[in-house]
Amino acid sequence: METVSFVDMADGTREDYELIVAKFAAHKTQHLADQLMGTLDSMRGPTFGYRIDRYRHSLQSATRALRNGETDEMVVAALFHDIADPIAPENHSAVAAEILKPYVDERTHWIVRHHGLFQGYYYFHHLGGDRDARDLLQEHQWFDDCAAFCAEYDQNCFDPDYDNMPLEEFDPLVREVFGRESRFPMIELA
Ligand SMILES: [Fe+2]
Ligand SMILES: [Fe+2]
Repeated sequence: METVSFVDMADGTREDYELIVAKFAAHKTQHLADQLMGTLDSMRGPTFGYRIDRYRHSLQSATRALRNGETDEMVVAALFHDIADPIAPENHSAVAAEILKPYVDERTHWIVRHHGLFQGYYYFHHLGGDRDARDLLQEHQWFDDCAAFCAEYDQNCFDPDYDNMPLEEFDPLVREVFGRESRFPMIELA
């Protein structure tokens, strides 16, 4: 296999980095969607007392978004809004939003970024917190959109009787969204 000339990155040439970029782009196209859906699949099992696991919760969220006529990227955002739970349980909204960020618009990113805080409206007060903590953001242009996302595609997605679509049916949408060119030059995401 063709490889770069360097051992230390500091010694790399333009040709070396063009090779890396080309190989990485081909890898991303083949594997990013598989990796994300594999992570979702790994969320089967534990329920933490909910009546369904996080895999079914995610499918239910995406199915409701699709049946409600949302855009492809919003359906994919719904599917992956909790994708960071296994690796970032304390800040899963921020991590999921960053995973989506290069491929979705600012509004979709903002909704996923803040969905955990907005979900608090449904339970923070039961645990001694402030259910209206999200009101810190009430002047934001997408406040109502994030509240609606949580109302329609998150807080109501724990129903064991809901006929969610199987993951395979979302495959084309996932590949379309994660196959997009990044919205950002690499310097802005580094
Ligand atoms: Fe969440
Ligand atoms: Fe959720």
